[in-house]
Amino acid sequence: MKNQMTYHITPHQGLINDPNGLVYFKGRHHVFFQWNQTGVTHSNKSWGHVSTTDFVNWQTHPPALEPVDEFDRDGCYSGSTVVHDNCLYLFYTGNLRGENNERITTQCLAISEDGIHFTKKGPIITQPSGYTAHIRDPKVWQTADGSWSMVLGAQTLDLTGTVLLYQSDNLIDWVFKGEFVEEVPDFGFMWECPDVLITASKQALIISPQGLTAQGITLNNLYHSGYFIGQISKDKHKFQIESTFTEFDRGFEFYAPQTYQTDDGRQIMYAWMGLMQEADERAFPTIKEGWIHSLTIPRVLTIVGNRIIQKPIDELLKLRGETLEQVKNIKKWQETLPTFQNEVLFHWPEAAPDFTVNIRNSVTFTYYQQERLFTVYRINWRTQQTEKRSVRLENELTDLQCFMEESSLEIFLNQGQEVFTLRYISQETEAFIAFEQQGIQAENDLIIYPLNGFCKK
Ligand code: FRU
Repeated sequence: MKNQMTYHITPHQGLINDPNGLVYFKGRHHVFFQWNQTGVTHSNKSWGHVSTTDFVNWQTHPPALEPVDEFDRDGCYSGSTVVHDNCLYLFYTGNLRGENNERITTQCLAISEDGIHFTKKGPIITQPSGYTAHIRDPKVWQTADGSWSMVLGAQTLDLTGTVLLYQSDNLIDWVFKGEFVEEVPDFGFMWECPDVLITASKQALIISPQGLTAQGITLNNLYHSGYFIGQISKDKHKFQIESTFTEFDRGFEFYAPQTYQTDDGRQIMYAWMGLMQEADERAFPTIKEGWIHSLTIPRVLTIVGNRIIQKPIDELLKLRGETLEQVKNIKKWQETLPTFQNEVLFHWPEAAPDFTVNIRNSVTFTYYQQERLFTVYRINWRTQQTEKRSVRLENELTDLQCFMEESSLEIFLNQGQEVFTLRYISQETEAFIAFEQQGIQAENDLIIYPLNGFCKK
């Protein structure tokens, strides 16, 4: 099997997209995801389901939802879960096409006592007036007074993206409270997958807007995912935006993130790795083997100033095998690693000077210290053209941590201040990696660990 993914949640068959319903329930972390079980197209979406106690040993469960009812027969779309009265309440979007292919959208509820078997209760929210039928992806959370809030991604009648707020005292009867944010000018035609990250000091509104225009080195993907930092108003009805929009990820494939809080208080995020241009998706080599896409590794989020910092969850340390490589103060170095699955850690005690990293002759990272500009180049598997994504760092670069699979990379810079997530396809059959530091001599440390995957295909 080529282009294998071994420590990422990925389908043994079919297409997956958004992470859904993330929750810690009765001692297990549950990850659900959008899944077309029988094909590699965006149709027939069910909720796939896996769970774990430790993020290393995973159990696969039967799909939690299948699109077989009259209100969701064209897809059980994205949503979330909450724990209430010892049960799991699952909220999702019932996608339906009418006689003339018009979209008919409802938000639906399903309930489970064991977290595995769900009973659908049908629609609990129907189409509100003043919006198109592009209303989806309910994210529900409990507020301090015990009542419940829900945000939904939506589109106004003049085709701008927004977030709608609903509230409930019992998770069954929901009251529409209006738009959760004041209008944000020129911010796309639709916002998908809203989420609210709540920490003791600050809050963030996470959205996946569609239709933003590229600006220099930002917003260069098809659609985007990012956040505004701010505060939820005292009456709980509005999110007051206090920052500009920041993209979560600077790479090529990252979309529709969702967060949840674990029992020990950590805020964890998964995302879909991920959204591609349609032609690139159709040409992705794993399609021939009957599967496509993956979720990201789980990342722990914290809000620092106006930024969300993302760090790989500590449990992934357990995937590490014995150190493969440990070298210091290298200028020019290359190695063929025994496995495709590795964690590569570079550290510069002072500050990184200019350097280049080459991975399997298909991805290159470059860093220019003067501009603090970090760029990832990859060869596109369809066009064979080189494409790039960049970021300018706020501080000197001191740390680079890269999670490699045979066909994906997740690169964390400066302890998660910036992240690049991407798929790549290499013609090289070996796990070749090369590093060259240019210009002034600067101290550095390089450590490489092999990672033992858990999802053997
Ligand atoms: C985001 C999204 C959601 C929708 C789901 C359908 O990728 O378009 O808005 O619920 O995917 O699979």
